[in-house]
Amino acid sequence: MSKPRLDGKVAIVTGGASGIGEAAARLFASNGATVVIADIQDALGEAVAASAGCTFMRCDVTDEAQVEATVGAVVAAHGRLDVMLSNAGVLLPTGSVMDMDLAELDRVMAVNFRGAAACVKHAARAMVSPPDNGARGGAIVCTASVASLQGGFGPASYTASKHALLGLVRAAAGELGRHGVRVNCVSPGGVATPMSCALMGVGPEELEAMTVPHNVLRGKVLRAEDVAEAALFLASDQASFISGHNLVVDGATTAVNPAVLHTVGL
Ligand SMILES: NC(=O)c1ccc[n+]([C@@H]2O[C@H](COP(=O)([O-])OP(=O)(O)OC[C@H]3O[C@@H](n4cnc5c(N)ncnc54)[C@H](O)[C@@H]3O)[C@@H](O)[C@H]2O)c1
Repeated sequence: MSKPRLDGKVAIVTGGASGIGEAAARLFASNGATVVIADIQDALGEAVAASAGCTFMRCDVTDEAQVEATVGAVVAAHGRLDVMLSNAGVLLPTGSVMDMDLAELDRVMAVNFRGAAACVKHAARAMVSPPDNGARGGAIVCTASVASLQGGFGPASYTASKHALLGLVRAAAGELGRHGVRVNCVSPGGVATPMSCALMGVGPEELEAMTVPHNVLRGKVLRAEDVAEAALFLASDQASFISGHNLVVDGATTAVNPAVLHTVGL
């Protein structure tokens, strides 16, 4: 039997109480990692952690002190931090650009960009200066989105936050490479999770029925578990020379222009 892909590694998954983060926490744990779920949904986070063999810590990523304390507590308990999956995010109906609610824009940026920046900052500090002063390195993965590459997948606030996140990841990969720390994004297309269902006001089956006919890749529905597999790859030693990358998990949606594809008869 092959070795579990995160054997002996210590990981934090922010936003791990639900959706993509929950799937990743379960997959990381089943691949040998010690996983700490960091989220603001206490009851759900505790329940997911109990059923997945993880532990839960309340952490609001918009508060840098809480992020620092969470990373510190994980290092104190487990002696190290090898993987940070910065995945917590929100998608708020901030309106069209001309009507954009700027207070809501601030809220989106506070979680999706500033929160991720705090996670990258404090994870990198723990990875670069571990308690035993050994040179260790680590893997930071941020859940961005196809909205990190193109407009039109969500409100402008969401698109801007994910573009900013990709910029942060690329800059951090450049700076942290000398310390052996890899920094990457995983960028899903649409997945029926509580976030996307709440925005559309429908359940998961209905959302998939609405979106799947527009997919470029047919015969497969993108699920949280598929995104978790991509995050696992980036977090693992299998991706040991991959850094600064944006791993798009969208069945070619951002690779082609479907409108043009049809007009040229392909
Ligand atoms: N669902 C999609 O279609 C889709 C597509 C592309 C990218 N994403 C991204 O995937 C990530 C996960 O989203 P999801 O779809 O699984 O949604 P979700 O709502 O199921 O999960 C998001 C989690 O983040 C947590 N969270 C929110 N604010 C937080 C905060 N301030 N501090 C800590 N935790 C907080 C929530 O409590 C929740 O558990 C997000 O970054 C999202 O932008 C989602």
